[in-house]
Amino acid sequence: TGKFTYDPGFTSTASCESKLTYIDGDAGVLLHRGYPIDQLAEQSNFMEVAYLLLNGELPDRKSLDSFNNTITRHTMVHEQLATFYRGFRRDAHPMAILCGVVGALSAFYHDSTDITDPHQRMIASHRLIAKMPTIAAMAYKYSIGQPFLYPKNDLSYTANFLRMTFGVPAEEYVVDPVVEAAMDRIFILHADHEQNASTSTVRLAGSSGANPFACIAAGIACLWGPAHGGANEAALNMLREIGTPDRISEYIARAKDKDDPFRLMGFGHRVYKNYDPRAKVMQKTANEVLDKLGVDDPIFDVARELEQIALSDPYFVDKKLYPNVDFYSGVILSAIGFPTTMFTVLFALARTVGWVAQWNEMIADPAQKIGRPRQLYTGPTERDYVPVDQR
Ligand code: CMC
Repeated sequence: TGKFTYDPGFTSTASCESKLTYIDGDAGVLLHRGYPIDQLAEQSNFMEVAYLLLNGELPDRKSLDSFNNTITRHTMVHEQLATFYRGFRRDAHPMAILCGVVGALSAFYHDSTDITDPHQRMIASHRLIAKMPTIAAMAYKYSIGQPFLYPKNDLSYTANFLRMTFGVPAEEYVVDPVVEAAMDRIFILHADHEQNASTSTVRLAGSSGANPFACIAAGIACLWGPAHGGANEAALNMLREIGTPDRISEYIARAKDKDDPFRLMGFGHRVYKNYDPRAKVMQKTANEVLDKLGVDDPIFDVARELEQIALSDPYFVDKKLYPNVDFYSGVILSAIGFPTTMFTVLFALARTVGWVAQWNEMIADPAQKIGRPRQLYTGPTERDYVPVDQR
């Protein structure tokens, strides 16, 4: 039309300015506030990365202790939230529960929904980060019919989540440090990824002035899809379906077939046209965790061989399709004991940090206005109404 730029899928539209995360997709680089993702994943911890994303700098010891303390104080959920869970079927997908429960938080925490008040914005942000592990663990407990566990605040963020997920009231739950370290690293690797679909959804929802709990629920809904966060569940289901290395070529052939909608899940990325730096750390972590836990899962062999075959196949080479963050995460999560339906919930838990940080950045941005894309209209031109009997 000359008036608008037509950009389906927003492949070339920058929707905002941001200081949080930098990606160079051709070089396979990912930085949070300037720090390379591999350094953060291997040397930092999730709470520190959360602080960094929210506040712009790594905390000193005192600030970190105080941040940990604040988050810990918000880990419990309103007792009445438990009755909300009981309205769901036991076989409900935990992502369905998560969408509903996180949206419902705005009905429980009215006192942090005034987005014009920076103090309330910060409380809402801390509440969301602190309550996600509790909410996620409750979704799991509900699905298997076990009692909910209250948070135990002398544990780390990640250990507390593992205990609420895998512990039972009758027994002391000892968190395996190998599992805790791996889980924490997976959280770091998922914490933020600039303007992906779910983050853009959170910003768009937030641009109208909606409260942060509702905005994060919108992000969770968007994340669920298999092209986005749902890929970790889909990738592991695919690896299990392939089952043995001798069946890989059949699936590679399907992925290359234009008439077959099948895609290699955990492969390809809109921005990375090189190896996803998160996948590199994830593969290394999978190696270490399976080794240390003594897990001998044939799907790890399937994954490694599938990667080798795909990376030497001209179809994947020409299209620059590499494993993404979701390709190896499932192998680790499965070894830890999570069912596949929980995988995307874990992604949402970690990404909440990024969503909240991006939402805060947007609200504080003086250039912020309601997101309102335009369209190219392709429907009928104006015509007169015809009464039903004359049609
Ligand atoms: N398997 C086979 N072919 C593929 C794949 C794949 N996984 N991904 C892309 N292609 C092909 C696609 O068919 C297309 O071919 P052609 O140009 O001949 O039509 C070409 O590569 C470009 O694909 P596209 O769909 O135009 O690229 P996009 O940027 O719109 O999609 C994607 C990116 C991630 C949605 C896509 O690669 C995909 O569906 N991958 C599988 C799902 C997945 O792993 N998603 C997780 C993404 S990383 C985690 C996250 O941030 O959520």
